[in-house]
Amino acid sequence: MSHAAHASAPAGNGTPIPYVDLAAQFAAEQQVLGPAIVEALAQGQWIGGAAIERFELEVCAYTGARHTIAVASGTDALVLSLRALDIGPGDEVITPPNSFVASTAAIVMVGARPVFADVLPDQGLDPDAVARVITPRTRAIMPVHLTGRIARVEEIGALAERFGLAVIEDAAQAFGSRWRGVHAGRFGTVGCFSAHPLKNLNAVGDAGFVVTDDDGLAVRLRRLRNNGLVDRNTVAEWGTVSRLDTIQAVVLCHRLAQLDGVLAARRHNAARYQALLDPAHVYWPACAPEAFNSFHTFVVQLDRRDALQQFLAAHGIGSSIHYPVPIHLQPAARALGHRPGDFPVAEAQAARILSLPIHQFLRDADIERVAATIAEFYR
Ligand SMILES: Cc1ncc(COP(=O)(O)O)c(C=O)c1O
Repeated sequence: MSHAAHASAPAGNGTPIPYVDLAAQFAAEQQVLGPAIVEALAQGQWIGGAAIERFELEVCAYTGARHTIAVASGTDALVLSLRALDIGPGDEVITPPNSFVASTAAIVMVGARPVFADVLPDQGLDPDAVARVITPRTRAIMPVHLTGRIARVEEIGALAERFGLAVIEDAAQAFGSRWRGVHAGRFGTVGCFSAHPLKNLNAVGDAGFVVTDDDGLAVRLRRLRNNGLVDRNTVAEWGTVSRLDTIQAVVLCHRLAQLDGVLAARRHNAARYQALLDPAHVYWPACAPEAFNSFHTFVVQLDRRDALQQFLAAHGIGSSIHYPVPIHLQPAARALGHRPGDFPVAEAQAARILSLPIHQFLRDADIERVAATIAEFYR
C-alpha cells in the first residue's frame, strides 16, 4: 500500500527512532493474542460469525453508533457507503484534494464525479470552499478527518442539511477522535473507518468498518458486503465480497480494549512536541478546545521540508509525508482537468508537511531528541 514513502532511519546518532513500530506492538500483545486467535480458529468459522458480531457490537458501544458494519478495508467502507446511498454515474461528491487517494478513488469507483474543494490551514475541508462548488448534481459531501483532526462537521452538516446532501465522513484516520464529546463517524449519514495496520485501531491485515444510525443503510451495507445476499439463496441486489475475517475481528476486539491507553500515549507525545517545537520554524495548527484528537499522525508544516527529512534520517529519526502529491495532480486524475494552482492551500501544504513519529512506544527522551534535532537543523 502506498501510504507515502517512509524515510527509514539508517545509522545515526543514538538508537534509531522509527516512524512506526508494529513489531513492538505485536511483541507486547503476542502472549494474549496468539492463543486468542488459535482458539477462535479452532471453532471452525473463519469468515462471519461470533467474532465479527462481537467486534461490531463493541464498536457500537465505544462510539455510540446504532449500527456497525465490518468490511474488508477502509476503501470498501467508502465504496459500499456510496453504493448504499445510491450514488453513481451523473452524481457529484465534494471532497478535499489532500486526503489519501482512497477518498477520491471510492467516488470514482462507483461511477460518480469527485469535485474537490480546498482546505483550511489545519488541513480540514473548508466549508466555504464546499459551498462554492455545490451544484444540482451534488449528492454528498465527504469530509476527511485527516491526521485524526475532526473536520468542520458543524458547518458541513449545516450545508448538507440546507442542500439536502448526504455526509460521508472519511474517518479512516480518526477512530477515537471526538468533537464536543461526539465520536468521529457520528456526524455524517455514515462514518467510514480503516483498520489498516498503520491506523491507531489496527488489524494484522486489511480491515475497515462503517457506522451509521440509519437502519435502512445498515441493511444495504450488510447485503452489499456479501454479494447482495439476504439469505443463503436470495440475491436482493448486486453486491461484492467485502467481509471481515475472524482473525482480524479477534485482533481488533483485543486492541479496541487497549485503545484508550494507545490514544493517551499518542496525546501525551503530541503535547510534548507542542511544548518543545519552536513555532518560529515549525507550524502546528492548535487543536480547538472542543476537539479530542486521536493523533493518527502528528503533521507539522515547515520550510525546507525535504532537507529536514533527510537530516532527521541521517540522525536515525524516521518520518513520513501524508501526502506529497495532492490527488488532483495525480496521473489518475488527469481526466478531471485540474492544474497546479487550482487548490493553492492544499498544494502549498503538500510541499511543507512532515509527519513526525508519534506512536505509543516512543519515550519522552525520543520526542526530546526529535525536537532537538529539528532545532539543530534550523539553527
Ligand atoms: C483518509 C483515508 N481514507 C481512506 C483510507 C483507506 O483505508 P484502507 O487503506 O483501509 O483501504 C485511508 C487509509 O489509508 C485513509 O487514510
